[in-house]
Amino acid sequence: MGICYFWVLLVCILTEGLTKGVFGLAFNWGTRSTHLLTPQIVVRLMKDNGINKVKLFEAEPEPLKALGNSGIQVMLGIPNDFLASLASSVQFAEKWVAQNVSSYISQNGVDIRYVAVGNEPFLKSYKDAFIHTTFPALQNVQAALIKAGLGRQVKVTVPINADVYETDSNLPSGGNFRPEIRDLIIPIIKFLSNNGAPLTINIYPFLSLQADPDFPKDYAFFSGNSKPIVDGSITYTNVLDANFDTLVSALEKNGFSSMPVIVGEVGWPTDGDPNANMVNARRFNQGLIDRILRGQGTPKRPTPPEIYIFALLDEDAKSIQPGNFERHWGVFNFDGTVKYPLNLGSGRGLVPAKGVKYLERQWCIMSPQASISDPNLAESISYACTYADCTSLGYGSSCGMLDARSNASYAFNMYYQTMDQRRGACQFSNLSAITTVDPSPRSYTGQNNTCRFEIMIDLGHHEKASSPSMAAPLVKHFLILQLLSTWVL
Ligand SMILES: *[C@@H]1O[C@H](CO)[C@@H](O)[C@H](O)[C@H]1NC(C)=O
Ligand SMILES: *[C@@H]1O[C@H](CO)[C@@H](O)[C@H](O)[C@H]1NC(C)=O
Ligand SMILES: *[C@@H]1O[C@H](CO)[C@@H](O)[C@H](O)[C@H]1NC(C)=O
Ligand SMILES: *[C@@H]1O[C@H](CO)[C@@H](O)[C@H](O)[C@H]1NC(C)=O
Repeated sequence: MGICYFWVLLVCILTEGLTKGVFGLAFNWGTRSTHLLTPQIVVRLMKDNGINKVKLFEAEPEPLKALGNSGIQVMLGIPNDFLASLASSVQFAEKWVAQNVSSYISQNGVDIRYVAVGNEPFLKSYKDAFIHTTFPALQNVQAALIKAGLGRQVKVTVPINADVYETDSNLPSGGNFRPEIRDLIIPIIKFLSNNGAPLTINIYPFLSLQADPDFPKDYAFFSGNSKPIVDGSITYTNVLDANFDTLVSALEKNGFSSMPVIVGEVGWPTDGDPNANMVNARRFNQGLIDRILRGQGTPKRPTPPEIYIFALLDEDAKSIQPGNFERHWGVFNFDGTVKYPLNLGSGRGLVPAKGVKYLERQWCIMSPQASISDPNLAESISYACTYADCTSLGYGSSCGMLDARSNASYAFNMYYQTMDQRRGACQFSNLSAITTVDPSPRSYTGQNNTCRFEIMIDLGHHEKASSPSMAAPLVKHFLILQLLSTWVL
């Protein structure tokens, strides 16, 4: 910046800030999808949308390489399954760091800033599976980073679920760690603090709303005017602030009042549940982004935390054990198209992915000649939905209002697309047919959710061998099923 004098300086600083992405956004990028965009397209999508920080759930080579020299900072996750090995051997941790951190930094120019050890390892539903391995794994990874000469550049952290803390008084000021977890978590926090590393917390207002039918809905968003929570001199109008400050209170009570905290996941899904729709997701994420752009913190922590929005893209192979909404957290659809408009500041809106290649514009539907009373219909739908994602067909979901015929068409098409439109993948006991007319129901457009009959991304699987019945492609289906079942959270 050459000519910046006096008050002009301010304008210069602001514009430099914008062009350098100082006000950039952070997102979670998960890859549990049957049809993944190429990592290059995803990185471009992030850059086009001013996203300058990303959190990955594991060290997958292709996404990491694509992030090399991109200007995007990376928080690299380690799945819980690795905790036992990392805990048991510092050599294992050294190998992990050498292969998955050092080499990407030095050879690929990946800007790794954090290593997130485990993912919500203390979640109640994991039933203590990881409670004894998390801390030693953290220590070994930290030691390995120091040995690799990355101790300053790369910080460790542990993303924890908000259920590790609670409040007796129902007010944020009453926050403390759950008694069962206290003796485990305090040494971890102390260790992070001693190493200048942050704690990471995942906060889900959507799940708070799910869990309690009496939860005041506007409090889940950023406009809780109906029943604000008054906590001494502070008035809370949204659950994100209240939840974050409950953790801050818990930290203060245990002697960590200046412990830095990152929000590792927060977002709102668009499908798979009556509360998961475009209107709610847009309302929540716009409110969240507005806060981020304003640099707003919480009442107890005015300095804004780093916030990683969950998520960038939909993932159709995620476990739906928590609910059908699990596959619909993306701000973008699986193919990088925009789900709903968001204002990213300075009049900028979301930009879709560029250069995406699709399969042919053809769909598998229920044949017009077939009867809805055909005895094979139920079994065929169930077969299709075992191997493809039918979560949009559920109650209160985007395609939940389809009649029986369109419902069958939706299931057949999801299967057909998931199988890359293979020949033989649209043969459900003579009940199905291929069409080139988009069967997506028009009448739904404009409502909160739009029922989309997808066309999948072209992955280059051009297997055209004809198979006469739906039994023939079973081997491939088995592979997909294995993928679906091993990719459980
Ligand atoms: C690096 O990370 C990947 C993905 O998590 C894992 O499969 C691989 O085993 C790791 N490398 C080492 C040496 O642990
Ligand atoms: C649509 O398909 C789903 C998934 O198989 C099923 O649960 C639901 O009952 C079907 N609805 C109608 C109206 O046929
Ligand atoms: C499908 O229709 C063909 C021709 O009408 C018939 O030969 C075949 O048996 C049918 N297959 C099934 C599974 O119903
Ligand atoms: C859309 O969502 C809003 C807010 O959740 C709700 O009040 C409205 O009834 C919904 N409209 C439809 C058509 O579902």
